[in-house]
Amino acid sequence: MQLNKYLYLFGYDKTLNDLCKLESKSIFGQEEKDKLLISDIDIDPSISAFIKKRLEIITFSKDYTTLISKIKEKNICIEGFKAEYLVLDNDKTEYDQRLRKLKDVGLSIKGNPDYYNPTITYGLCFYKEFWCFGLLNKNSFDWHKHNKKPRSYSHSINIHIAKALVNIAVNGKKKQTLLDACCGVGTIILEACFAKVDIDGCDINWKVCRDARENLAHFGYTSTIYRSDIKDITKKYDAAIIDLPYNLLSSATDEDTLHIIKSTTNITNRLIIVSIKDIRTLINEANLEILITCSISKRGKSNFARTIWVCEK
Ligand SMILES: C[S@@+](CC[C@H](N)C(=O)[O-])C[C@H]1O[C@@H](n2cnc3c(N)ncnc32)[C@H](O)[C@@H]1O
Repeated sequence: MQLNKYLYLFGYDKTLNDLCKLESKSIFGQEEKDKLLISDIDIDPSISAFIKKRLEIITFSKDYTTLISKIKEKNICIEGFKAEYLVLDNDKTEYDQRLRKLKDVGLSIKGNPDYYNPTITYGLCFYKEFWCFGLLNKNSFDWHKHNKKPRSYSHSINIHIAKALVNIAVNGKKKQTLLDACCGVGTIILEACFAKVDIDGCDINWKVCRDARENLAHFGYTSTIYRSDIKDITKKYDAAIIDLPYNLLSSATDEDTLHIIKSTTNITNRLIIVSIKDIRTLINEANLEILITCSISKRGKSNFARTIWVCEK
């Protein structure tokens, strides 16, 4: 019996359930289930707003005593380690038992533990009848710093959605080139840069371009922002994200929306479009196939919904 290499643990607000599932499908080729996913695909939890932890499984066993023997056989010798117990849904182990098990793990590793400043963190959990031991890697939440970007607008997209859009656009592939076709102050670009994804931005409004450049420079990112109508961009991309204009500052008629979508199809085959209304007919008019749609409602404002349309030519 072989388990996959990585166990990913998710956490999110229920309004983002569908988005999280779409993101995990895009990254791993499978949806997370009950906030868990097991895969051989290695990704840093910090590129997602929804992946809280990742256990890189070193060894596992159906029998707990065998697991401890297997850990001892590994002859792990490290100073300043820490061990954490991950309580998964089907695990009924009581608190004092969990502490005892952590002690067993600690005694199977040579070196002194350091609870407050660990050099390395190990994890222990009970997953689908298996006791698993491995390296624990947590979401750093460093990307929260982007919430303090110097320039922000009321129509900027939520940072959790921005991260998911990047992952959906990349679609689990290596070295993809992306364009944020209506980039505003660059919320999506910041998340792509954080995840080391190659991305450019474009916006018709020179003021927001200036602000996007200021935001990028503030965090030391170097993406190119084109001050341009999307119709004049000629560089080709693997995928484009379009957060369509929607409010007073950046309103758009159906004609404008169609213009943006059609222009973007000239430079990419894959479009991830965000809208606040049903744009199915416009997408059809642009000769795009809708692969998946996903709705997001804002917490407490069920009438403010956004739809994500994953389309291809
Ligand atoms: C909803 S805002 C994008 C917000 C952005 N995601 C952010 O978080 O800051 C839509 C943007 O589309 C831009 N826009 C409108 N028409 C455009 C066009 N034809 N080409 C490029 N950008 C356009 C607007 O200037 C506006 O900044």
